Amino acid sequence: MSSERSYIIRDPFLLYREGVRESHREKVREGNIEIAKSMAEFLKSSLGPMGMSKLMINKFGDTAVTKDGAVILDMMDVYHPVAKFLKETAKSVESAVGDGTKTAIILIGELVKRAERLMESGIRPGTIISGYKRACEIALSSLISFSRPFDLNNDELMKNIIRNMLRTRGIDVAVDHLADLIIKAVNTAIEFRDGKVIIDRDVIQVVKKPGRGILESELIMGVVLDRGLAHPMMPKRMLNAKVALLDMALKVDPFKHLQPYKREIHIANDELVKKFIGEEDKIEKEFVNRIISVGANVVICRRRIGNVAKYELARAGVMAVERLLKDERIELIVRATGAMRIANLQDLREDDLGHADLVEERKIGGDRMLVIEGGRSSKIATILLRGDPYQADEVERAIKDSVVMISALAAKPAYVPGGGAIEEALSIVLRNESLKYPGREQIAIQAFANSLEVIPILLARNSGLDPTTILTDLRAKHVSGMWEYGIDAFSKCIANVIEVGLIEPLAVKEQILKTCTEVASSIIRIDYVVDRRYAKKHRGEMP
Ligand SMILES: Nc1ncnc2c1ncn2[C@@H]1O[C@H](COP(=O)(O)OP(=O)(O)OP(=O)(O)O)[C@@H](O)[C@H]1O
Ligand SMILES: [Mg+2]
Repeated sequence: MSSERSYIIRDPFLLYREGVRESHREKVREGNIEIAKSMAEFLKSSLGPMGMSKLMINKFGDTAVTKDGAVILDMMDVYHPVAKFLKETAKSVESAVGDGTKTAIILIGELVKRAERLMESGIRPGTIISGYKRACEIALSSLISFSRPFDLNNDELMKNIIRNMLRTRGIDVAVDHLADLIIKAVNTAIEFRDGKVIIDRDVIQVVKKPGRGILESELIMGVVLDRGLAHPMMPKRMLNAKVALLDMALKVDPFKHLQPYKREIHIANDELVKKFIGEEDKIEKEFVNRIISVGANVVICRRRIGNVAKYELARAGVMAVERLLKDERIELIVRATGAMRIANLQDLREDDLGHADLVEERKIGGDRMLVIEGGRSSKIATILLRGDPYQADEVERAIKDSVVMISALAAKPAYVPGGGAIEEALSIVLRNESLKYPGREQIAIQAFANSLEVIPILLARNSGLDPTTILTDLRAKHVSGMWEYGIDAFSKCIANVIEVGLIEPLAVKEQILKTCTEVASSIIRIDYVVDRRYAKKHRGEMP
C-alpha cells in the first residue's frame, strides 16, 4: 500500500496538507499587535527634524544611512506577514503623497496598542474598529476645517513645505538652494488639464555627480546623459540639433554580416582577403552616409559605434554618443526631442529625427556629460545633484519624494500646521465629539484621540524636550483655541507653527489618517493565520 493511501486512511478529516501551520484567536492577535508595536517602536526615534538616522545594510551588503521611513522598512527584510503588510503600507503612503510614512506606522502601532488594552478590558474588536472608523471620519472632516487654502503660485509657502520636508530627512545644508531648484523644476512640470492642476513627475529627473557640495547643484532645462562624445574630433556643441536615436549598433557584427562570405574565402587569393577586410569599413561608412543623408547632426546610439563609423561621423561634423543602454534614458530623449527609435537604418527618415535647441558636451565633476536642452516635445528638467556621494542617495530620494508631495498638494491645494499642532487639534476635537457616542464606542474614539498625541510627544522627546511638560502646555494652548501652536524643534519651544512656516500638505495628513485607521483595523480583525509556506508538496492524496 502506498504511503499516500495510508495517510488518507489514517486521518480522513485532515483539513490541511502536512506541514501547514495554523494558529488562531488570541495568540494570533497578540502576535500581530506585538509586531506592529515593535515596528512603530523602531521608527519612533527617527521622527521629526531632530530624529535619528538608521544605518541599514541589506542582504547584498548595500548600505544606506537614512531617515526615510519607507526605505528603512524596505531594507529591514522582515519575515512576519504583518511586518510585510506594514512595509507595503509605508510604500503605498510614500507613492501616494511622498511623505508621512513613519507617522503612519507609528500611529498604527499606537492604535493597535490601545485596542489591545481595550480588548483586555472586555471590549469586542468589532466595537473598537467601528469606534476607530467613526473617529477617522470626524478627524478627516475637522482636518478640512483646520486647513488653509494653498496658492500654488506662492513660492514662499511652497518653499516652506519643501524646506521642512528636506530638513526632516536630515538635510541641513543648502536647503534653500535645493528648495529653489525643486520649485523651478516643478514649475516646468505643471500642466492645467480640465481645470485641474497636474504635475507630470516623470519630467523631473535627478542626476547625481560628486562635487564640492550641494550648493553646486544646478537645474538644467533638458536631459543630462552620463556619457561623453564617442570621438575627440566631434564638435562639442551643436545648435539646432537634429537627433537620430538608434536602437541598433553602428558596427559590423562579423558573425551576422560576414556569414555568407565565410565559406567563399580562399586564403591564397590576396584580392579576396582585402575585400573581406575592407567590407567591414565599407558597411560602417554606408551607415554613416545614410545618417548624414537624412540630415542628422547628432547621433544617440543605444549600442556600440564602430571605430570607422566614429571617425566618419566626426569627419562629417556629427556629434555621437554610444552605449546608452538604460531604457529610461532613451525614453526621456524620445519625450524631450520627439525622436523616433530606429532599429534598422533603412527605416530612418528625416521625420524620425528629434529636435533640440542645443546639444553640448560639458565637463561636470571631472566627467564628460551630454546635455540636451530645449527639446521640441516636452520640457524635461534635470536637477544635477552635486556633493558628498554618501549623502547623495538620501538627497535624491528626498527630492523625488518632495515632487510626489507637491503633486499631492497640487491635487488638493491646502495646508495644515505641522510640528504636532494638527494632531493635538484633532485629538481635542475627538475627545469632545466622543461624548456624543454611546459607552464603548466613545472609549474607542478617545483611544484614537490619545493615539494621535504620540506625534507631539515624540517630536518633543526627539528634540530633547520634556514630553510631559510640552504636552500639558500644548493642550492648554489648544483648549484655549490656539490650535496653530505646535512644537518648533529648532527653537525648542511651543510656537505658532504657521507663523514660523512649519506647514504640511493637507493631502499628507489625510492619507496618514485613512491608512492608519484601515491598517490598524485589519490587524485587529485578523484572528486566524494559515501559513502554508512549509507545507509538503502535493502528493496526490485524493483516492
Ligand atoms: N522644525 C520642526 N519642528 C517640529 N516638528 C517638525 C519640524 N519639521 C517637521 N516637523 C514634524 O515632523 C513630522 C514629520 O517627520 P518625519 O518626516 O521624520 O516623518 P514622516 O514624514 O512621517 O516620515 P517620512 O518622511 O520618512 O516619510 C511631522 O509631524 C512634521 O510636522
Ligand atoms: Mg517626512
